[in-house]
Amino acid sequence: MAILVTGGAGYIGSHTCVELLNAGKEVVVLDNFCNSKPEAIAKIEQVAGRRVVLYESDLLDRKAVTSVFRENKIEAVIHFAGLKAVGESVEIPLKYYHNNLTGTIILLEAMAHFNCKKLVFSSSATVYGLSDNVPFRETHPLSATNPYGRTKLMLEEIMRDTYVSDNEWSFALLRYFNPIGAHKSGLLGEEPNGVPNNLLPFVAQVAAGKLPYLSVYGGDYDTKDGTGVRDYLHVVDLAIGHLNAFDYVLDNKGAEAFNLGTGRGYSVLEIVKAIERASGVTVPYKISARRAGDIPVCYADPAKAKKVLGWEATRDIDEMCEDSWRFTKQNSGI
Ligand code: NAD
Ligand code: UD1
Repeated sequence: MAILVTGGAGYIGSHTCVELLNAGKEVVVLDNFCNSKPEAIAKIEQVAGRRVVLYESDLLDRKAVTSVFRENKIEAVIHFAGLKAVGESVEIPLKYYHNNLTGTIILLEAMAHFNCKKLVFSSSATVYGLSDNVPFRETHPLSATNPYGRTKLMLEEIMRDTYVSDNEWSFALLRYFNPIGAHKSGLLGEEPNGVPNNLLPFVAQVAAGKLPYLSVYGGDYDTKDGTGVRDYLHVVDLAIGHLNAFDYVLDNKGAEAFNLGTGRGYSVLEIVKAIERASGVTVPYKISARRAGDIPVCYADPAKAKKVLGWEATRDIDEMCEDSWRFTKQNSGI
């Protein structure tokens, strides 16, 4: 039996494939490389020392998705494939709704057809909306502020409805906080196209001399140093969480949400300091206006994941920043 990993060439998917292979699982990847490169697959295989079965296919291609299930014995699916750029989702919402919603519906229909009803889903802390009632628990009211976030909310609803209609289904809805870091090998990491939107890749590129300075979005929040606070977690811890969630969907039925975060918040300036420690380079920054749609503070209550999944993040902020820095250094030719 194999595990189908959609979006397995991407940032979180590639790290998860390595952990699955290391745990002795058979892995089938479906990815259209719209936000990743085929080389990621070779790197996964190099790091893990084992092969994956690759389908270079689009989730929107029903025939291709059906072939994956016809040609392999798929025990469960870990579903990462989706578009994730918040700003772009505001500019071209229909692309996001079509890719993320239609793609997932095609996947669920194929799964139902082949009687494979176990799925681990990449949701996001973005489903907690603009609230700053931290720490966020899974029972917190849900809302979204942009089309990307709405696709996550809607997909959670679609999965809950699917379970209600057929109690054979099992869904783990994993609400990720802020994954950062990279694989220790320096081979796998986050490679955003163009100028990064997210803090970590941006700061690392400033440290590498690729960008002149960091704009800190807001210095007057009611936080320890006035800058925004987030729950950063190491991508390898997050990847390992998927193995726990895989075991959970094998043994349980339902549609359960789990926060995957550390439960600790760090400010933008604390991240700058951690990258400076990791790189030995001073990171120039300027405090600028707040970014529209940002909340001051966001961190998880990860107690449910610990209790039910037996998962807990173990890597600290210095390890996250050292690994991010190693990846940036090795991949930016400095
Ligand atoms: P990523 O863009 O690196 O990986 C997504 C992968 O899916 C890419 O390899 C892309 O080529 C593929 N893909 C997209 N649409 C596809 C389609 N129609 N058919 C086939 N393949 C397709 O993103 P990531 O950071 O690894 O995120 C993985 C998932 O986790 C996404 O669903 C994302 O929304 C979610 N998530 C990410 C974060 C984060 O901070 N990175 C936070 C919360 C949730
Ligand atoms: C963003 C997305 C969120 C998505 C998450 C992970 C928005 C509004 N939210 O969240 O939907 O799930 O990424 O992909 O885009 N910061 C700076 N300067 C920068 C970049 C960021 O000061 O150049 C600050 C931000 O204001 C924030 C923190 O750094 O306080 C983290 O930002 P980011 O990495 O973009 O993550 P989120 O804001 O949590």
